[in-house]
Amino acid sequence: MSEVKKSVFIKTYGCQMNVYDSDRMADILVDHGYLRTDNAEGADLVLLNTCHIREKAAEKVYSEVGRLRAIKDRAANRGRSVKIAVAGCVAQAEGEEIISRAPAVDAVIGPQSYHRLPQILDRVSRDGHAVETEFPSEDKFDYMPAPGRAMPGLQPSAFLTVQEGCDKFCTFCVVPYTRGAEVSRPVEQILAEARTLVARGTREIMLLGQNVNAFHGVGPDGKDWSLARLLCALAELDGLERLRYTTSHPRDMRDDLISAHKDLPQLMPYLHLPVQSGSDAVLKAMNRRHSRDDYLRLIDRLRAARPDLALSGDFIVGFPGETDEHFDDTMALVNTVGYAQAYSFKYSARPGTPAADATDQVDDAVKSQRLARLQALLSKQQADFNGQMMGRTMDVLLEKPGRRPGQLTGRSPWLQAVQVNAPRTAIGEIVPVTIKKIGRNSLFGETALPDAIREESGAAA
Ligand code: 5AD
Ligand code: SF4
Repeated sequence: MSEVKKSVFIKTYGCQMNVYDSDRMADILVDHGYLRTDNAEGADLVLLNTCHIREKAAEKVYSEVGRLRAIKDRAANRGRSVKIAVAGCVAQAEGEEIISRAPAVDAVIGPQSYHRLPQILDRVSRDGHAVETEFPSEDKFDYMPAPGRAMPGLQPSAFLTVQEGCDKFCTFCVVPYTRGAEVSRPVEQILAEARTLVARGTREIMLLGQNVNAFHGVGPDGKDWSLARLLCALAELDGLERLRYTTSHPRDMRDDLISAHKDLPQLMPYLHLPVQSGSDAVLKAMNRRHSRDDYLRLIDRLRAARPDLALSGDFIVGFPGETDEHFDDTMALVNTVGYAQAYSFKYSARPGTPAADATDQVDDAVKSQRLARLQALLSKQQADFNGQMMGRTMDVLLEKPGRRPGQLTGRSPWLQAVQVNAPRTAIGEIVPVTIKKIGRNSLFGETALPDAIREESGAAA
């Protein structure tokens, strides 16, 4: 008789690294007799992988747990036990407090303890609950199975964490506290994971790190490798056609990385390079350790290396002490750079960070006005950037079924979503697409599929 499997439902909040972590936790759990399900109702384990970067994150988690408690109680009435686990950065920041405030939670697991998930769940069965938020001395990646167990389908574009944590201590940011000190994975470990992904059909890898361009993992030669050197080694892998990396700090944009944008055709012409503010006074108060001019000169050098480079950024408005003039400097910087895409936020005081204690907090109404002005400008820049694509033919990696039947969704080199009519057999292919229409969130194009794909789809039909 086959073993009865348990099921796990994972809800992911926040950044791409959390998406990656959720998949890896699923891989671990699959090795321990779980199936991943899309349905919280009916799951034996509900895992919330949480984010703490901005306000109300913890509150959202508590209200989600409230909803889940109802599911848990209903299941208990039917004699079935449902466990609730909180992982991620809220788990790290709140620790034990989560179980005191929300006793329905059975386990609290910090981001550096995921590899201990099976033992943590055993402890829950034995002791009723478990909290694990230490930064363990062992490397969690040494204990993780190869990726993809929980996701048997083709994954044309995949994330791969190469670096975690941050030593920059921007005064607004919780990451150095929740994710810990900056740690790079060894090069061999990364290459092995990349090879597994490529063998499973992955054509594009997005390297992830909170401060990814500070990467300095130990190489097979025993020396520290830079991110540029790692990218060169990955570019050698047969079948791996596209590389990207995120998120970078301007201070760590080394010369060899800038050159990689010129020399490596696999490195896609899109870079997320947050600046946060265009004002020197605010940058100083944020402890960014670079000036507005440093950033602009860096952009010039990157564009000289790769003239079609599209830029993306993060911005914070209403940082403590930000005046109208400071904010105007940010608007002027955005006008100078011209972004293809950007994320902008109202400053939110994070407990335990230095800026949270500043006495010159900005009024929320002022923050809202500034955010609206900045977002209007950034949206216009994004629309202009997308508008330039009309009539152009570009390579698109077809990733998954699109919004309508017969449509697939893919990504342009500049990370734009592209909708195109193509059969499902074309998923995983990189095809030339001519853009015929520009939508708000997507480009729409047409492709003449290579004969080989058309024949395959004919055979499948
Ligand atoms: N308030 C607002 N935005 C923040 N970010 C990080 N911390 C805060 C905060 N306290 C933004 C930054 C960062 C992005 C991931 O989130 O712009 O680059
Ligand atoms: Fe946070 Fe990024 Fe600054 Fe590190 S570099 S403290 S992750 S904003």
